[in-house]
Amino acid sequence: MATESRISIHGQWSNRLAFILAATGSAVGLGNIWKFPYITGMNGGGAFVLVYLLCILCIGIPILMAESMLGRRGRQSPINTMAALAAEEGGAKVWAWLGWMGVLAGFLILSYYSVIAGWALAYVFRAASGLFTGLDAESINNIFGSFVSDPERTLAWHSIFMVMTMVVVARGVQHGLEKSVRYMMPALFIVLIVLVLYAATTGYFSYGLRFMFATDFSRLSWNAVLMAMGHAFFTLSLGMGAIMMYGSYLPAHTSIAKTSLIIAGADTVVALMAGLAIFPIVFANGLEPASGAGLIFKTLPIAFGQMDAGILIGTLFFILLVFAAWTSSMSLIEPAVAWLVENHGMSRISASVWLGVLSWLLGIASILSFNHWEQYKFWGKTFFDLLDYLTANVMLPLGGLLIAIFAGWVVGVKSSYDEMDNGKRGYALWLFLVRYVTPVAVILIFLNVSGLLDWL
Ligand code: TRP
Repeated sequence: MATESRISIHGQWSNRLAFILAATGSAVGLGNIWKFPYITGMNGGGAFVLVYLLCILCIGIPILMAESMLGRRGRQSPINTMAALAAEEGGAKVWAWLGWMGVLAGFLILSYYSVIAGWALAYVFRAASGLFTGLDAESINNIFGSFVSDPERTLAWHSIFMVMTMVVVARGVQHGLEKSVRYMMPALFIVLIVLVLYAATTGYFSYGLRFMFATDFSRLSWNAVLMAMGHAFFTLSLGMGAIMMYGSYLPAHTSIAKTSLIIAGADTVVALMAGLAIFPIVFANGLEPASGAGLIFKTLPIAFGQMDAGILIGTLFFILLVFAAWTSSMSLIEPAVAWLVENHGMSRISASVWLGVLSWLLGIASILSFNHWEQYKFWGKTFFDLLDYLTANVMLPLGGLLIAIFAGWVVGVKSSYDEMDNGKRGYALWLFLVRYVTPVAVILIFLNVSGLLDWL
């Protein structure tokens, strides 16, 4: 069916490239540069990376395609898109709940995402002041330690980042989201290449390579498999409707398979490069790969303190990291903002402000979990860890599972075939993946982690 007749009330991308840029902007973010290295470190490297890559291929890409397709067909916020498509395809009304869960997940993720982006923002100024020059690993570690244990400082940076996000989201699709991505992505890429080259001079590059790619499955728990899968969702911005939202601004007749492959490819390359830059530094300085959420802040400054033009490159790196986080954070609340505009007649500005303020408040709990509340543990996790685990490893895969089922089984074959605009062979492969492979993989991993499979 022709979708030209339907255009989202929120606007449309100017062209295919604009969509690719915005979706890549959403995908590439803290997930690639901050989170991927630290969870790889915590889960022992190689085998975890392999599972993650497999999840990107067999689960991530098909769902990326499914979300773009559903979004373009529905042309509204995920909640209304799911409701409209369910009605159109004769599915049950409850599918709209999927949109709700997505909106909630995005809101929860934004609350702690902004806290970490605030760290990156603070490090722009630390790098620019030359603070790291000539320091050893221990002093760099202490700088990070005293920074995150100061709730007032981190709150200030969290607040600034949240305001930045609200401003761009309030300005809307074309002015806000599109422009910010066009130059930042290539620049980020170049700085990462410089960092990988530096890592190659540490003499420990092969250690880094071995850590990331030598697979030792004996060290892989089912929980690690779940984290690898959760991260595949997180890094591609899947499972909560962000890509569905961006897909709704997609002009008709752009090949969804091609755009999805480009987005997933760029995202994966950035993550692997971040790992290749960081792990050699970890080993060269006798650091612990499993040291947690502070990993990049404890490692990369060592490099900036030692290399030529380290002040310039370090400053540039953190600026680009902030940009990457910025273009991601917008997509975390865009679905909620669009829904408030559609259903409650709010202006984009007040919708962004309200959601931003609420998410900011919740972020304070994450800030405190790195200092005053550090000792409060829920199932052995701090508030921040718990929120991250719940959203990335439970809500996103669950959302993704339901999206796959909806796109594969509820939406009719004719509708999805027309909307995808890809050849027959590509379509058949996609349909097979979303109908069988993706749901079975997600369910199996859930069952194994919960221990239900043993119990059965
Ligand atoms: N993908 C982003 C990152 O890697 C984070 C992100 C943005 C996200 N939008 C999302 C994660 C939607 C899940 C869902 O940093």
